[in-house]
Amino acid sequence: MSYTSGRHFLQIPGPTNVPERVLRAIGQATIDHRSPEFSRLAIDVFQGLQKVFKTSGTVVIYPSSGTGAWEASLVNTLSPGDRVLMFETGYFAALWREVALKLGLDVDFVPGDWRHGVDPAVVEAKLGADRDRQIKAVAVVHNETSTGTTSRVHDVRKAIDRARHPALLMVDTISSLASIDYRHDEWGVDVTVCCSQKGLMLPPGLGLNAVSAKALEASKAARLPRAYWDWQAMVRDNQAGFFPYTPATNLLYGLRESLRMLFEEGLGRVFARHQRHAEATRRAVRAWGLEILCLNPAEYSPALTTVVMPEGYDADALRKLILEKFDMSLGTGLGKLKGKVFRIGHLGDFNDLMLAGTLCGVEMGLSLADVPFAKGGVTAALDFLSDR
Ligand SMILES: Cc1ncc(COP(=O)(O)O)c(C=O)c1O
Repeated sequence: MSYTSGRHFLQIPGPTNVPERVLRAIGQATIDHRSPEFSRLAIDVFQGLQKVFKTSGTVVIYPSSGTGAWEASLVNTLSPGDRVLMFETGYFAALWREVALKLGLDVDFVPGDWRHGVDPAVVEAKLGADRDRQIKAVAVVHNETSTGTTSRVHDVRKAIDRARHPALLMVDTISSLASIDYRHDEWGVDVTVCCSQKGLMLPPGLGLNAVSAKALEASKAARLPRAYWDWQAMVRDNQAGFFPYTPATNLLYGLRESLRMLFEEGLGRVFARHQRHAEATRRAVRAWGLEILCLNPAEYSPALTTVVMPEGYDADALRKLILEKFDMSLGTGLGKLKGKVFRIGHLGDFNDLMLAGTLCGVEMGLSLADVPFAKGGVTAALDFLSDR
Protein backbone atom coordinates (compact mmCIF):
# COMPACT_ATOMS: atom_id res chain seq x y z
CA MET A 1 0.00 0.00 0.00
CA SER A 2 1.32 3.47 -0.83
CA TYR A 3 1.42 6.33 1.68
CA THR A 4 -1.64 8.61 1.75
CA SER A 5 -0.52 12.15 2.50
CA GLY A 6 -2.42 14.55 4.73
CA ARG A 7 -4.96 13.78 7.42
CA HIS A 8 -7.67 11.16 7.10
CA PHE A 9 -11.18 12.65 7.42
CA LEU A 10 -13.05 10.51 9.94
CA GLN A 11 -16.58 11.73 9.33
CA ILE A 12 -18.53 8.73 10.53
CA PRO A 13 -20.85 9.52 13.46
CA GLY A 14 -18.44 7.91 15.92
CA PRO A 15 -15.80 7.01 16.70
CA THR A 16 -14.97 10.69 16.18
CA ASN A 17 -11.69 12.53 15.67
CA VAL A 18 -9.62 12.23 18.85
CA PRO A 19 -7.91 15.58 19.56
CA GLU A 20 -4.12 15.73 19.96
CA ARG A 21 -4.47 16.86 23.58
CA VAL A 22 -6.44 13.72 24.38
CA LEU A 23 -4.05 11.46 22.48
CA ARG A 24 -1.11 12.91 24.39
CA ALA A 25 -2.92 12.47 27.70
CA ILE A 26 -3.62 8.82 26.88
CA GLY A 27 0.08 8.36 26.05
CA GLN A 28 1.22 8.90 29.65
CA ALA A 29 2.73 6.01 31.58
CA THR A 30 0.15 3.68 33.09
CA ILE A 31 0.07 3.97 36.87
CA ASP A 32 -0.93 1.68 39.74
CA HIS A 33 -4.72 1.70 39.82
CA ARG A 34 -4.60 1.28 43.60
CA SER A 35 -2.40 4.34 44.18
CA PRO A 36 -3.40 7.76 45.59
CA GLU A 37 -2.56 9.34 42.22
CA PHE A 38 -5.07 7.07 40.48
CA SER A 39 -7.72 7.84 43.07
CA ARG A 40 -7.33 11.58 42.35
CA LEU A 41 -7.65 10.92 38.61
CA ALA A 42 -10.81 8.85 39.09
CA ILE A 43 -12.45 11.38 41.41
CA ASP A 44 -11.68 14.20 38.95
CA VAL A 45 -13.25 12.21 36.15
CA PHE A 46 -16.38 11.31 38.13
CA GLN A 47 -16.91 14.95 39.08
CA GLY A 48 -16.45 16.09 35.47
CA LEU A 49 -18.83 13.46 34.16
CA GLN A 50 -21.50 14.55 36.64
CA LYS A 51 -21.33 18.03 35.06
CA VAL A 52 -21.67 16.61 31.57
CA PHE A 53 -24.60 14.32 32.45
CA LYS A 54 -26.01 17.22 34.53
CA THR A 55 -26.51 15.04 37.57
CA SER A 56 -25.54 15.19 41.20
CA GLY A 57 -26.05 11.42 41.39
CA THR A 58 -24.00 8.32 40.67
CA VAL A 59 -21.90 7.79 37.55
CA VAL A 60 -20.46 4.37 36.73
CA ILE A 61 -17.57 3.80 34.30
CA TYR A 62 -16.90 0.40 32.70
CA PRO A 63 -14.02 -0.71 30.53
CA SER A 64 -16.49 -1.53 27.74
CA SER A 65 -18.14 -0.35 24.57
CA GLY A 66 -21.61 1.18 24.61
CA THR A 67 -23.25 -2.23 24.32
CA GLY A 68 -21.88 -3.14 27.74
CA ALA A 69 -23.38 0.03 29.19
CA TRP A 70 -26.74 -0.95 27.62
CA GLU A 71 -26.54 -4.37 29.26
CA ALA A 72 -25.57 -2.78 32.59
CA SER A 73 -28.65 -0.52 32.51
CA LEU A 74 -30.94 -3.54 32.18
CA VAL A 75 -29.31 -6.17 34.41
CA ASN A 76 -28.95 -3.78 37.32
CA THR A 77 -32.57 -2.66 37.42
CA LEU A 78 -34.80 -5.46 36.12
CA SER A 79 -35.85 -9.05 36.84
CA PRO A 80 -36.49 -11.95 34.43
CA GLY A 81 -39.72 -11.45 32.48
CA ASP A 82 -40.10 -7.76 33.32
CA ARG A 83 -41.79 -5.72 30.60
CA VAL A 84 -39.86 -2.94 28.91
CA LEU A 85 -41.35 -0.37 26.53
CA MET A 86 -39.01 0.34 23.61
CA PHE A 87 -39.39 2.23 20.31
CA GLU A 88 -38.21 1.30 16.84
CA THR A 89 -36.52 4.58 16.02
CA GLY A 90 -33.75 2.85 14.06
CA TYR A 91 -30.96 0.31 14.06
CA PHE A 92 -29.59 1.05 17.54
CA ALA A 93 -33.00 0.99 19.20
CA ALA A 94 -33.48 -2.44 17.58
CA LEU A 95 -30.10 -3.62 18.90
CA TRP A 96 -30.89 -2.48 22.46
CA ARG A 97 -34.10 -4.48 22.18
CA GLU A 98 -32.05 -7.54 21.11
CA VAL A 99 -29.96 -7.19 24.26
CA ALA A 100 -33.13 -7.00 26.37
CA LEU A 101 -34.62 -10.08 24.67
CA LYS A 102 -31.44 -12.10 25.18
CA LEU A 103 -31.57 -11.22 28.88
CA GLY A 104 -35.11 -12.67 29.11
CA LEU A 105 -37.03 -9.40 29.27
CA ASP A 106 -40.46 -8.98 27.72
CA VAL A 107 -40.15 -6.12 25.23
CA ASP A 108 -43.12 -4.15 23.94
CA PHE A 109 -41.47 -2.73 20.79
CA VAL A 110 -43.47 0.13 19.29
CA PRO A 111 -42.97 -0.02 15.50
CA GLY A 112 -41.47 2.98 13.71
CA ASP A 113 -40.42 4.10 10.23
CA TRP A 114 -36.79 5.02 11.15
CA ARG A 115 -37.57 8.61 10.11
CA HIS A 116 -39.10 9.92 13.34
CA GLY A 117 -38.17 9.97 17.01
CA VAL A 118 -40.21 8.58 19.90
CA ASP A 119 -43.74 10.00 19.98
CA PRO A 120 -44.44 11.19 23.55
CA ALA A 121 -48.20 10.72 22.94
CA VAL A 122 -47.60 6.99 22.34
CA VAL A 123 -45.58 6.79 25.57
CA GLU A 124 -48.49 8.35 27.45
CA ALA A 125 -51.07 6.09 25.80
CA LYS A 126 -49.06 2.89 26.42
CA LEU A 127 -48.41 3.73 30.06
CA GLY A 128 -51.98 4.94 30.60
CA ALA A 129 -53.28 1.57 29.34
CA ASP A 130 -50.91 -0.33 31.65
CA ARG A 131 -53.27 -0.30 34.63
CA ASP A 132 -51.57 -3.10 36.58
CA ARG A 133 -48.14 -1.51 36.14
CA GLN A 134 -46.52 -4.35 34.21
CA ILE A 135 -44.14 -1.98 32.40
CA LYS A 136 -41.05 -1.59 34.53
CA ALA A 137 -38.96 0.58 32.22
CA VAL A 138 -39.26 2.88 29.23
CA ALA A 139 -36.10 2.87 27.09
CA VAL A 140 -35.39 5.59 24.55
CA VAL A 141 -32.44 6.25 22.24
CA HIS A 142 -31.88 10.02 22.47
CA ASN A 143 -29.96 10.41 19.22
CA GLU A 144 -30.52 7.54 16.75
CA THR A 145 -27.10 7.34 15.12
CA SER A 146 -28.44 5.21 12.26
CA THR A 147 -30.95 7.83 11.12
CA GLY A 148 -29.90 11.26 12.40
CA THR A 149 -33.07 11.70 14.44
CA THR A 150 -33.14 13.05 17.99
CA SER A 151 -36.00 12.05 20.29
CA ARG A 152 -37.44 14.63 22.67
CA VAL A 153 -36.48 13.07 26.00
CA HIS A 154 -37.88 15.89 28.11
CA ASP A 155 -41.29 15.45 26.44
CA VAL A 156 -41.09 11.68 27.01
CA ARG A 157 -40.52 12.39 30.72
CA LYS A 158 -43.56 14.67 30.79
CA ALA A 159 -45.64 11.95 29.11
CA ILE A 160 -44.59 9.43 31.79
CA ASP A 161 -45.54 11.94 34.48
CA ARG A 162 -48.93 12.65 32.89
CA ALA A 163 -49.65 8.92 32.96
CA ARG A 164 -48.54 8.87 36.63
CA HIS A 165 -46.58 5.71 35.89
CA PRO A 166 -43.70 4.47 38.07
CA ALA A 167 -41.63 2.93 35.22
CA LEU A 168 -37.94 3.76 35.14
CA LEU A 169 -36.80 5.99 32.26
CA MET A 170 -33.64 4.78 30.52
CA VAL A 171 -31.97 6.85 27.82
CA ASP A 172 -29.18 5.97 25.41
CA THR A 173 -27.09 9.13 24.92
CA ILE A 174 -24.27 7.34 23.12
CA SER A 175 -24.20 9.80 20.22
CA SER A 176 -25.69 12.79 22.02
CA LEU A 177 -23.84 13.34 25.30
CA ALA A 178 -21.50 16.34 25.06
CA SER A 179 -22.88 17.14 21.60
CA ILE A 180 -26.61 17.76 22.21
CA ASP A 181 -28.23 19.39 25.25
CA TYR A 182 -28.99 16.69 27.82
CA ARG A 183 -30.07 16.91 31.48
CA HIS A 184 -30.18 13.67 33.48
CA ASP A 185 -31.53 15.13 36.74
CA GLU A 186 -33.80 17.85 35.38
CA TRP A 187 -35.47 15.45 32.92
CA GLY A 188 -35.93 12.79 35.59
CA VAL A 189 -33.93 10.11 33.79
CA ASP A 190 -33.16 7.01 35.86
CA VAL A 191 -30.38 5.45 33.82
CA THR A 192 -28.43 7.30 31.14
CA VAL A 193 -26.26 5.08 28.94
CA CYS A 194 -23.22 6.44 27.16
CA CYS A 195 -19.71 5.60 25.98
CA SER A 196 -16.45 7.28 25.12
CA GLN A 197 -16.04 7.41 21.34
CA LYS A 198 -18.46 10.14 20.23
CA GLY A 199 -19.08 13.53 21.89
CA LEU A 200 -16.52 12.76 24.59
CA MET A 201 -13.84 12.68 21.86
CA LEU A 202 -12.06 9.56 23.11
CA PRO A 203 -11.23 6.28 21.44
CA PRO A 204 -13.74 3.46 22.06
CA GLY A 205 -13.37 1.60 25.35
CA LEU A 206 -15.36 3.27 28.13
CA GLY A 207 -19.03 2.52 28.84
CA LEU A 208 -20.97 4.83 31.15
CA ASN A 209 -24.12 4.76 33.24
CA ALA A 210 -25.54 7.76 35.10
CA VAL A 211 -27.87 6.39 37.76
CA SER A 212 -30.70 8.03 39.72
CA ALA A 213 -31.42 7.26 43.39
CA LYS A 214 -34.61 5.48 42.23
CA ALA A 215 -32.62 3.23 39.87
CA LEU A 216 -30.04 2.47 42.57
CA GLU A 217 -32.87 1.47 44.87
CA ALA A 218 -34.40 -0.70 42.12
CA SER A 219 -31.04 -2.44 41.71
CA LYS A 220 -31.31 -3.84 45.22
CA ALA A 221 -34.40 -5.86 44.29
CA ALA A 222 -33.51 -6.59 40.64
CA ARG A 223 -32.94 -10.30 39.98
CA LEU A 224 -31.33 -10.49 36.54
CA PRO A 225 -27.93 -12.20 37.00
CA ARG A 226 -24.97 -9.81 36.96
CA ALA A 227 -21.35 -9.84 38.02
CA TYR A 228 -19.10 -7.66 35.87
CA TRP A 229 -21.84 -5.04 35.45
CA ASP A 230 -22.93 -4.89 39.08
CA TRP A 231 -23.38 -1.27 40.19
CA GLN A 232 -23.18 -2.05 43.90
CA ALA A 233 -19.53 -3.10 43.85
CA MET A 234 -18.68 -0.17 41.58
CA VAL A 235 -20.40 2.40 43.76
CA ARG A 236 -18.75 0.99 46.89
CA ASP A 237 -15.20 1.19 45.49
CA ASN A 238 -15.68 4.35 43.39
CA GLN A 239 -16.35 6.42 46.51
CA ALA A 240 -12.64 6.32 47.32
CA GLY A 241 -11.64 6.61 43.64
CA PHE A 242 -11.07 2.90 43.03
CA PHE A 243 -12.64 0.12 40.98
CA PRO A 244 -13.60 -3.50 41.77
CA TYR A 245 -11.46 -4.62 38.81
CA THR A 246 -8.72 -3.15 36.64
CA PRO A 247 -9.97 0.08 35.06
CA ALA A 248 -8.92 1.45 31.65
CA THR A 249 -6.36 3.78 33.24
CA ASN A 250 -5.09 5.43 30.07
CA LEU A 251 -8.56 6.12 28.72
CA LEU A 252 -9.33 7.81 32.03
CA TYR A 253 -6.34 10.11 31.47
CA GLY A 254 -7.87 10.89 28.09
CA LEU A 255 -11.30 11.46 29.62
CA ARG A 256 -9.90 13.91 32.18
CA GLU A 257 -8.39 15.89 29.31
CA SER A 258 -11.49 15.78 27.10
CA LEU A 259 -13.65 16.94 30.03
CA ARG A 260 -11.26 19.88 30.57
CA MET A 261 -11.61 20.77 26.90
CA LEU A 262 -15.41 20.63 27.04
CA PHE A 263 -15.45 22.92 30.08
CA GLU A 264 -12.93 25.32 28.53
CA GLU A 265 -15.22 25.70 25.51
CA GLY A 266 -18.36 25.65 27.67
CA LEU A 267 -21.11 23.07 27.18
CA GLY A 268 -23.53 25.71 25.86
CA ARG A 269 -21.07 26.68 23.15
CA VAL A 270 -20.37 23.03 22.34
CA PHE A 271 -24.09 22.41 21.77
CA ALA A 272 -24.45 25.61 19.67
CA ARG A 273 -21.48 24.58 17.53
CA HIS A 274 -23.10 21.22 16.80
CA GLN A 275 -26.41 22.88 15.91
CA ARG A 276 -24.65 25.28 13.56
CA HIS A 277 -22.71 22.58 11.74
CA ALA A 278 -25.85 20.48 11.40
CA GLU A 279 -27.73 23.42 9.89
CA ALA A 280 -24.91 24.11 7.42
CA THR A 281 -24.90 20.43 6.44
CA ARG A 282 -28.65 20.36 5.86
CA ARG A 283 -28.38 23.46 3.67
CA ALA A 284 -25.77 21.65 1.59
CA VAL A 285 -27.95 18.54 1.28
CA ARG A 286 -30.98 20.58 0.21
CA ALA A 287 -28.94 22.52 -2.34
CA TRP A 288 -27.73 19.21 -3.78
CA GLY A 289 -31.40 18.32 -4.23
CA LEU A 290 -31.01 15.26 -2.00
CA GLU A 291 -33.32 14.16 0.80
CA ILE A 292 -32.64 14.26 4.54
CA LEU A 293 -33.79 10.98 6.11
CA CYS A 294 -35.28 12.56 9.26
CA LEU A 295 -38.75 13.84 8.41
CA ASN A 296 -39.45 16.01 11.45
CA PRO A 297 -37.42 19.26 11.60
CA ALA A 298 -37.96 19.36 15.38
CA GLU A 299 -36.04 16.08 15.55
CA TYR A 300 -33.12 16.88 13.22
CA SER A 301 -29.91 15.64 14.82
CA PRO A 302 -27.21 18.18 15.67
CA ALA A 303 -24.65 15.32 15.65
CA LEU A 304 -25.07 13.78 12.20
CA THR A 305 -27.09 14.07 9.01
CA THR A 306 -28.33 11.03 7.12
CA VAL A 307 -28.68 11.59 3.38
CA VAL A 308 -30.97 9.48 1.18
CA MET A 309 -29.46 8.42 -2.18
CA PRO A 310 -31.53 8.87 -5.34
CA GLU A 311 -33.33 5.64 -6.33
CA GLY A 312 -31.01 3.20 -8.10
CA TYR A 313 -27.74 4.68 -6.74
CA ASP A 314 -25.70 2.77 -4.19
CA ALA A 315 -24.61 4.77 -1.14
CA ASP A 316 -21.80 2.32 -0.36
CA ALA A 317 -20.33 2.67 -3.86
CA LEU A 318 -20.27 6.44 -3.29
CA ARG A 319 -18.64 6.01 0.13
CA LYS A 320 -16.03 3.67 -1.35
CA LEU A 321 -15.16 6.17 -4.06
CA ILE A 322 -14.92 9.05 -1.55
CA LEU A 323 -12.63 6.96 0.68
CA GLU A 324 -10.37 6.00 -2.22
CA LYS A 325 -10.22 9.44 -3.84
CA PHE A 326 -10.32 11.77 -0.85
CA ASP A 327 -9.40 9.63 2.17
CA MET A 328 -12.66 10.40 3.93
CA SER A 329 -14.83 7.88 5.79
CA LEU A 330 -18.57 8.53 5.83
CA GLY A 331 -21.08 6.46 7.80
CA THR A 332 -22.68 3.50 6.04
CA GLY A 333 -26.41 2.75 5.99
CA LEU A 334 -27.21 0.30 8.79
CA GLY A 335 -29.72 -2.54 8.72
CA LYS A 336 -32.53 -1.92 6.27
CA LEU A 337 -30.88 1.36 5.19
CA LYS A 338 -27.80 -0.44 3.79
CA GLY A 339 -26.86 1.02 0.41
CA LYS A 340 -29.75 3.50 0.56
CA VAL A 341 -28.25 6.25 2.73
CA PHE A 342 -24.94 7.62 3.87
CA ARG A 343 -24.30 9.47 7.11
CA ILE A 344 -22.22 12.60 7.62
CA GLY A 345 -20.89 12.82 11.18
CA HIS A 346 -20.40 16.40 12.38
CA LEU A 347 -19.86 15.76 16.07
CA GLY A 348 -17.01 15.83 18.51
CA ASP A 349 -13.79 17.79 17.96
CA PHE A 350 -14.84 19.60 14.81
CA ASN A 351 -14.78 23.09 13.27
CA ASP A 352 -15.98 25.11 10.29
CA LEU A 353 -13.12 24.25 7.97
CA MET A 354 -13.34 20.55 8.81
CA LEU A 355 -17.02 20.72 7.86
CA ALA A 356 -16.17 22.64 4.69
CA GLY A 357 -13.63 19.94 3.73
CA THR A 358 -16.13 17.20 4.52
CA LEU A 359 -18.84 18.73 2.35
CA CYS A 360 -16.34 19.35 -0.47
CA GLY A 361 -15.44 15.66 -0.37
CA VAL A 362 -19.12 14.67 -0.58
CA GLU A 363 -19.84 17.09 -3.43
CA MET A 364 -16.81 15.96 -5.45
CA GLY A 365 -17.76 12.33 -4.77
CA LEU A 366 -21.34 12.83 -5.96
CA SER A 367 -19.97 14.32 -9.15
CA LEU A 368 -17.45 11.55 -9.79
CA ALA A 369 -20.02 8.85 -9.05
CA ASP A 370 -22.42 10.40 -11.58
CA VAL A 371 -25.15 10.69 -8.97
CA PRO A 372 -27.89 13.04 -10.20
CA PHE A 373 -27.57 16.12 -8.00
CA ALA A 374 -27.26 19.90 -8.24
CA LYS A 375 -23.93 21.56 -7.54
CA GLY A 376 -23.84 24.33 -4.96
CA GLY A 377 -24.24 22.45 -1.66
CA VAL A 378 -20.80 23.53 -0.49
CA THR A 379 -21.55 27.14 -1.43
CA ALA A 380 -24.84 27.05 0.48
CA ALA A 381 -23.03 25.73 3.57
CA LEU A 382 -20.19 28.25 3.27
CA ASP A 383 -22.67 31.12 2.88
CA PHE A 384 -24.32 30.02 6.11
CA LEU A 385 -21.03 29.52 7.98
CA SER A 386 -19.63 32.87 6.87
CA ASP A 387 -22.80 34.81 7.54
CA ARG A 388 -22.34 37.56 10.12
C1 LIG B 1 -27.02 5.23 19.69
C2 LIG B 1 -26.07 4.08 19.86
N1 LIG B 1 -26.34 3.16 20.79
C3 LIG B 1 -25.53 2.12 20.99
C4 LIG B 1 -24.38 1.93 20.24
C5 LIG B 1 -23.53 0.73 20.48
O1 LIG B 1 -22.30 1.13 21.04
P1 LIG B 1 -20.99 0.25 20.86
O2 LIG B 1 -20.82 -0.02 19.41
O3 LIG B 1 -19.90 1.13 21.45
O4 LIG B 1 -21.18 -1.00 21.64
C6 LIG B 1 -24.06 2.87 19.26
C7 LIG B 1 -22.86 2.70 18.44
O5 LIG B 1 -22.60 3.44 17.51
C8 LIG B 1 -24.92 3.97 19.07
O6 LIG B 1 -24.66 4.90 18.14
